[in-house]
Amino acid sequence: MTEHYKIIEHHYDTVVVGAGGAGLRATFGMVEKGLKTACISKVFPTRSHTVAAQGGISAALGNMGEDHWSFHMYDTVKGSDWLGDQDAIEYMCREAIPAVIELEHYGVPFSRTENGKIYQRAFGGMTTHFGKGQAQRTCAAADLTGHAILHTLYQQSLKFNAEFFVEYIALDLIMENDECRGVLAWCLEDGSLHLFKAHMTVLATGGYGRSYFSCTSAHTVTGDGNAMALRAGLPLQDMEFVQFHPTGIYGAGCLITEGVRGEGGYLTNSKGERFMERYAPSAKDLASRDVVSRAITVEINEGRGVGPLKDHAYLHIEHLDPAIIHERLPGIAETSKIFAGVDVTKEPIPILPTVHYNMGGIPTNYKAEVVTLKNGNPDHVVPGLMAIGEAACVSVHGANRLGSNSLLDLIVFGRSAAIRCHELIKPGTAHKPLAANACAEAVGRFDKIRHAKGQYSTAEIRLSMQKTMQTKAAVFRTAATLEKGLEEMHAINASFADVGVKDRSLIWNTDLVETLELDNLLAQATVTLHSANNRTESRGGHAREDFPERDDENWLKHSLVWYKQGQATIDYRPVHLFTLTDEVEVIPPKKRVY
Ligand code: FUM
Repeated sequence: MTEHYKIIEHHYDTVVVGAGGAGLRATFGMVEKGLKTACISKVFPTRSHTVAAQGGISAALGNMGEDHWSFHMYDTVKGSDWLGDQDAIEYMCREAIPAVIELEHYGVPFSRTENGKIYQRAFGGMTTHFGKGQAQRTCAAADLTGHAILHTLYQQSLKFNAEFFVEYIALDLIMENDECRGVLAWCLEDGSLHLFKAHMTVLATGGYGRSYFSCTSAHTVTGDGNAMALRAGLPLQDMEFVQFHPTGIYGAGCLITEGVRGEGGYLTNSKGERFMERYAPSAKDLASRDVVSRAITVEINEGRGVGPLKDHAYLHIEHLDPAIIHERLPGIAETSKIFAGVDVTKEPIPILPTVHYNMGGIPTNYKAEVVTLKNGNPDHVVPGLMAIGEAACVSVHGANRLGSNSLLDLIVFGRSAAIRCHELIKPGTAHKPLAANACAEAVGRFDKIRHAKGQYSTAEIRLSMQKTMQTKAAVFRTAATLEKGLEEMHAINASFADVGVKDRSLIWNTDLVETLELDNLLAQATVTLHSANNRTESRGGHAREDFPERDDENWLKHSLVWYKQGQATIDYRPVHLFTLTDEVEVIPPKKRVY
């Protein structure tokens, strides 16, 4: 099959797939350290989904009150429902401080306090003194923080003369003897195929929010790297943990930042009650996202939803000074006007929990190296492969991510990947020869999908998958819904074998792009259902109505899922209940109280 396609070969020290916050931070960090680095991206870098992040990036700077990274670490471990790896969490919370100061120096236009420091707002689950006080830890550029950070990182990448391959679709990892040797990509502009040989391939390809019907993710968020890892025979970790953001706009799914509640916004039901007071008497509207999403869902299920169908809730900021809204929340004021027809200074915003983030992904250590379970070793490093950002499961978020820890994860682990590559790779090291047929399987898959002549359209299969995920792997799950979901996915996967692609060209063939993305989504949707059905407890974002309690005795472990030829296999890795240094102690599991 490869003979039908001319493959252009490139030699790099490192190749980064994805140009969102994590990908860009890794790319210019590597170039800065003298590594010849290619960054390939399916969209222009500043269109990456990081641009949509609103509320901010956490770091215990203490600009607006007392704070310490050990408080941040405590909150992150507790927020993760103890499934987070504590060595990695320690690393992230400690490194947050220099990483954010570095961003400031790179030029991120953060909002400012009166004395000129970075403005920080309250976010859910962020406390001081190990749960006793309310922290203001989330560094914000109004409610457009992702936009500000992404543009700054792209400017830095240009400053360092990073090499970009834009509108290149990564097709598959090239593996040889269980080692990653690079990646095969398709250039949309001229239709050519490219083999990027690299000593390290870094997947910064984001989550797979688009496997759901209602999500805050861009249409491009299809978890391409996760699916490539599965096809390479590697496992994904903790895929059952899908985060619903409590405040997506009803009907449209667009994000309304948690920063709204950080600035004093609150939720009500049809009786006008501030119902969060019942579910989280102390943290109230600023409880962590899993808690707030479940509370809204219970209010709706018990008949206290708002609107004609009683199927959503209200988020209020009408009581805030319009000048504050204009200064700190201009983005959500505009989004609410466009997508809900609401003037936020006068009326509440209709909201509904909406899929926002995947805690699961490619297992890595805190140095960004991909790990797997091999010969009894749960931390076996896969040579030549890293994953960062939402594609990775480090695991710093465990069963539930705290808001504003995602932009942080991107920056800290993008930076950490660059540091590790600098330690491991001597610039300019020659590449070992690759087998002549190294790309055959990847090209074969591409060609098969390109020439698919079946009866079902990509759009109809995608819609079926999204509806199944939305209803069967929802905020609350049971064995019955998950098993039904698996049954439906079985049929949906079978229909993909009968998909039809109408456009066979190689240049800007969006029909083919969407079908390749759908193939990626289907694998991730399927393993999410398998993992969720397998975990018979409730923890963080995984709420099993039939197993309502957290069960540390049996389930304080990461799940790993492999997926080959339609078969899912599950195994486990232990949670890292140890710290990186002796400056902090392990935070032992206990019941979460808000
Ligand atoms: O609500 C938000 O602004 C989202 C932040 C996050 O997911 O970290």
